Amino acid sequence: MSNCIPPTTTGKTTSASSTTSKATTTTSSTSTVKTTTSTSTVTTTSKTTTSTTSSSTAEPSGSGPNKTIAKVPVLGWNSWNAYGGNINEAVILATANSMVSLGLKAAGYQFVDIDDTWSNITGRDPTTQRILPDSNKFPNGIEYLATEIHNLGLKFGIYGDAGLTTCSGFPGSLYYEDIDAQTFSDWGVDLIKYDNCAVPANWSDTYVTDEYTSNTALRYIRMGNALNTVSRPIVFSLCEWGADAVWTWGARVGHQWRLTGDSSSSWSFVTSAITTAASVATYTNFYGHGDMDMMEIGNGGLSSSEERTHFAAWSFLKSPIILGTNLTNLSPAQISVITNSELLAFSQDTTYGAPALQYDTTNPPTYFSGSSSAGQHAFGVNYVNSTASLTFTFSAIPQLANKTSWLVHDMWAKKDIGTFSGSYTASVAGHDTAALRFT
Ligand code: GAL
Repeated sequence: MSNCIPPTTTGKTTSASSTTSKATTTTSSTSTVKTTTSTSTVTTTSKTTTSTTSSSTAEPSGSGPNKTIAKVPVLGWNSWNAYGGNINEAVILATANSMVSLGLKAAGYQFVDIDDTWSNITGRDPTTQRILPDSNKFPNGIEYLATEIHNLGLKFGIYGDAGLTTCSGFPGSLYYEDIDAQTFSDWGVDLIKYDNCAVPANWSDTYVTDEYTSNTALRYIRMGNALNTVSRPIVFSLCEWGADAVWTWGARVGHQWRLTGDSSSSWSFVTSAITTAASVATYTNFYGHGDMDMMEIGNGGLSSSEERTHFAAWSFLKSPIILGTNLTNLSPAQISVITNSELLAFSQDTTYGAPALQYDTTNPPTYFSGSSSAGQHAFGVNYVNSTASLTFTFSAIPQLANKTSWLVHDMWAKKDIGTFSGSYTASVAGHDTAALRFT
């Protein structure tokens, strides 16, 4: 990892330090592995070596993400936050069925993603070098699981790692990119979340001015190029925790890029993710989205106002929204938050790709504005844990400054509030977020 200093402190300091510790820990035990990096051609065994190192200062030849998919932020579910390593076919299929029966599919949620620990920890197929599923967890294999999920009209995501092993010690894909991309395509995979553990020492980074030439980027470019050689379009989700200024090159490599270390079900995580994402929001647009990490709604630890802010901010900053809870435990109120049609329409707008941007100078960032097909929008986060008045001054909002009078609409209540001149002041509950549309 390069010594990149993120532009703001809160979230990215956390993510940078967590990255360092993970990479450093795994590196020392794997430092003898060598391979080529000047080509995306994959060696079929990690013992295959050449004398080259991974360092490069030349502009890498990444073919870039597939622009037929993931134009707007991905909506779905991932197993990690709720189940960790306790995943199996029954849990995943039950979740997929809940996505349908709870109305989440109808609201736009598509992806059912399995995270770490799905594969056979003892190794690859000795003949084909293909990665294998854990046959106890997935007795009918991954292709069967993907087909069942497709039969529900949903999409299926899987997890891999740009190192020698995953973060939980299962086979990694470094040096096996072509084989694994082909396997995932054959199985019917629609998304790969690609993690960043167990990085060999010869892939460690020194500071480079263009982080697209960093060894971290190169490891991700290898898989991106492999995905572009298979017939199935596969969403490429970079999970390297915000290292190496990924926001500056993420859109050249994948469809979404994690901005922080791992989420937790806490208000401090929500505010730190908002702060980080706001500082690099101009990098997000169609086909490339800063990923604020998986949702914690339903996992306890957040008040209902905090859960509304969590969902609103992931929507207006156009992060992927990947639910991370046991869906059957969600209350009707929580389901109504995560299916709010007006916030999801802002997130999923196919005409306007930019997220809402901060238009004030507060830290943590309070006021955001943007445009959608439905009109102009402003959002205000109340970081105080008691009701506060947030004033939206039209002349200070780029999208509203050209007129003094606007019809104000509450996107939570889905109701017009009235026509206001000069400004509108919202009364916002502690830790809640005002979501407004102006026409
Ligand atoms: C972390 C990643 C998490 C989860 C976990 C699995 O590196 O950020 O989202 O995938 O690995 O081990």
